[in-house]
This record gives sequence, C-alpha cells and structure tokens, in this order.
Amino acid sequence: MLKVLHIDTNHQVLKDGLEKLGCICSEDYTSSKTEIEQKISKYNGIVIRSRFKIDKQFINAAKNLKFIARVGAGLESIDVEYAAEKGIHLISAPEGNRNAVSEQALGMILSLFNNIKKADLEIRSGKWLREANRGVELEGKTVGLIGYGNMGKAFAKKLRGFDVEVICYDIKDGVGDENCTQVSLEELQEKTDVLSLHTPFNKLSHEMVNEDFINKFSKPFYLINTARGSAVVTNHLVNALISKKVLGACLDVLEYEKGSFENLFENETLPKAFDYLIKADNVLLSPHVAGWTVESKVRLAQTIVDKVETIFYSEGKELQQKELKKVTGIGGLFFKTKDPKAIKEWYKNHLGFNVDDWGCTFWWKDKKGNEASTQWSPFKSDTDYFNPSKKDYMFNYRVDNLEALLEKLNNEGVTIVGEIQKYEYGKFGWILDLEGNKIELWEPIDAAFK
Ligand SMILES: NC(=O)c1ccc[n+]([C@@H]2O[C@H](COP(=O)([O-])OP(=O)(O)OC[C@H]3O[C@@H](n4cnc5c(N)ncnc54)[C@H](O)[C@@H]3O)[C@@H](O)[C@H]2O)c1
Repeated sequence: MLKVLHIDTNHQVLKDGLEKLGCICSEDYTSSKTEIEQKISKYNGIVIRSRFKIDKQFINAAKNLKFIARVGAGLESIDVEYAAEKGIHLISAPEGNRNAVSEQALGMILSLFNNIKKADLEIRSGKWLREANRGVELEGKTVGLIGYGNMGKAFAKKLRGFDVEVICYDIKDGVGDENCTQVSLEELQEKTDVLSLHTPFNKLSHEMVNEDFINKFSKPFYLINTARGSAVVTNHLVNALISKKVLGACLDVLEYEKGSFENLFENETLPKAFDYLIKADNVLLSPHVAGWTVESKVRLAQTIVDKVETIFYSEGKELQQKELKKVTGIGGLFFKTKDPKAIKEWYKNHLGFNVDDWGCTFWWKDKKGNEASTQWSPFKSDTDYFNPSKKDYMFNYRVDNLEALLEKLNNEGVTIVGEIQKYEYGKFGWILDLEGNKIELWEPIDAAFK
C-alpha cells in the first residue's frame, strides 16, 4: 500500500484514482519545503506540479520514496539523475497536455498572422482599419520545429490540413514521421518561415535562440515558444524584432518567469526587453498556459494515475491479493520451559515427537498440495527471544509476502519489532498484538528443510 503526499492541487481524478488503486493519499499544500522534507520519509510517493525543486537533499530525506509524479511535462525541477540512482520512479504526464499545447501554438500563430488581438483592441477604441490588418496565411509556409517529442509531434499532427511543410530538428536521430521530416539544424534554418520550440530545459536548449542562432536563418521568420522561457535570449529576440529578422513572436513562456511558473517577476522593475514585448503589435504573450485547459487538467491527472497503476499495481494487483490472504498457516509454537531438553524427551517418549536440536518439525500440505511445515520449539525460561513480550509463549504465523504485510501493518499503526531477518529457509519479521504478545511472521522457503 503506497502512502502518497500531494503538495500541489490537481484535478480530483488524481487523488480518487490513486485511492481506488489502494494508495493512501495525504495533502499538504501549505507547508514549506523544509517542513515537507522533515516528514517525507513517511511517504512512498509524492505528487508535485512545480511548487519547489526536488533536489539531492530532499531525495536523501525521502528514504521510502518509490515515485515522484510531476503533473506536467518537464522534469527540470527534479534532480532526475539522483532520483533514478536511488531507484525512484519518475512519472510525468506529457500525454496529458500535448494536445493543449499544440492547439495553443496553432491558435497563437493564426491569431498573430491575422492580427486578431490588434484589430480587436483597435475596434474597441473606435478604429476600423482594414488594410492595416491585412493578414498572412499559413498555407505554403515551412514550419520548423525544434524538439520532436510529445509536444512537437502533437503540433505537427495539428498542422495536417494546413498545406504547410513541416520539418524538425532533434538531437535524437530517426524521430521524423508521416507528419514531419527530420532535417539538420542547418536545413531547418535555411527553410523555416515559422519556428516553433518544443525542447525541454537542458544545457543545449538553454539560451539556444540567441543572436548567432537567429542570424543563421536564411529568411525572416516568426517564432513560437511554448517550451521553456530560458530557451530564448529575450534581449536578442527584441533586437531581431526591431531589425525585422524576426517578423513576430508568440510567447507562452518567458525567460523572466519564476521556477514555479506561478509568477513573472520576483522584483518590481520590468526588464527593458520585456517592456518592448508588451508594447509590440507583432508579439503575443500568454502566462505559461499552453498546457492548461479544462481537458488537460483531467487528462494530466488521469495520466499520472494510469502510470502509477502500470508501474506499481499491475504486479501490485497480485501483491494485493497476496496481502489479503495475510497469514496462511501456523508456522511455529514456541514456549518457555525450565528444561527444554527434558521437555523434548517427554514429548518424544509420550507423544512420539520426532525431536531434534530445535524441537520438532511437523509436515503437512497446503490447499494447493504444497508441502509446508510447522515448528514446535521449547525455549529456556530466560530466553530473550520473546522480548519485549513477557509471556511464556510466542506463535509464529506463516505469511505469503512478509514485506508487503509489514508495510501494511505499519500503515495500520501496528508495532513492528526489529528488522526483517533473511535466512535460506525464509524471511522473519516480528510484531506485537493488542495485548503485547510478540508474534513472529515467517515467509517460509519450505524446500530449504528438505
Ligand atoms: N507551455 C506549457 O504549458 C507547456 C506544456 C507542456 C510542455 N511544455 C514544454 O515542452 C517541452 C517538451 O515537452 P515534450 O513532452 O515534448 O518533451 P519530450 O521529451 O517528449 O520531447 C523533447 C524532444 O526534444 C529533443 N531535444 C532535447 N533537447 C534538444 C535540443 N537542445 N535540441 C533539439 N532537440 C532537443 C529530445 O530529443 C526530444 O525528442 C517540455 O519540456 C516543456 O518545456 C510546455
């Protein structure tokens, strides 16, 4: 049973879906990163949008974390290499918002080409300017995509039917498909009329669109950026807008955004380049919402649920069934006695026990016909094996899946005594029952006795 902490609000589908799978969900949308770091070891999963960075320190504190789910596409706020090193599954949900991003990219470029925002504002201020708002058509143009993954592919698919040539440049080979031809960066810079960025944040994409990069384009071009603000050097873009090397820009993301994407500026002063952008007619801006639609909110949530199910519950379904069975039989009867040797002799002589150093092993068959054993053992009265229980006896119960059962018992608040011990004849764990009786749990390997 996975304990999952949600630290950002998401569509209800996410929490409901995880709970349906059997996860225990907790929410904490207000505690600071440090406060969450202090309690994260209690959780097996964390669901985050972009509230804070998940760095080495956080991962080190998250001793029992099995997955980090980011309800979005990019994972740059997470130290993915360190998380992977620690065996933590990284789950993102680009399938959930790729259609939204593609529609926004298309919407922005068509809007810019047809002066929709400008004309609308003019009419509102009493101006009816037709020639000044003559549009430009997409048909016949070449759209160059950089980064041909989820978002790039979704945009190329949307462009079918517009009679445009779609080409892409990607650092991975062989990504082109029926909607888009992969080309070299040089070819893309030679042919492109409309450049659309779909790269994740990384060293190569950081400040990728700079003066030098822009100057390498053969023709003046339009820019769409729905990827990450850091991919474009805004100062250089503004210079290119002024020189008309860039004919217009659709920017859903900005260099100046906060890492959480929730705020534009950390201080009050507006950068000069930004001041240019907000006054320019040939620039469209949106507040990092390309992936934010009514539909994507649900789809992102569902994508995370589906991925958690695939990773943990396809095998876990079997695990859960095993857990339901819990104890499968009595594995041992242990009791304190003044003289174990004499007691064994007595049981041998009067009840025919086949005794050895440990006591006596009884063999039987389970329902499936598998051979199984139960151990009977007298212990010296001063043994500490039954500690912390003060009782004179201890039972051992056979279980199917010790780790899963102990995890479940721990979540239910049952006291676990000590750590799991592994031997060639199985794994052992200990708990206390309601009255403080120590119980030994045993996931046996019966074949080891043969
Ligand atoms: N604006 C929004 O709301 C929004 C929403 C979703 C995604 N995004 C952005 O879109 C990005 C892409 O998402 P995705 O799901 O398509 O990622 P993805 O990993 O599926 O695809 C990215 C592709 O880019 C390629 N690539 C990486 N670095 C490159 C580089 N420097 N030059 C050329 N190709 C490079 C990769 O090989 C890969 O094929 C996200 O990381 C995020 O930055 C933004």
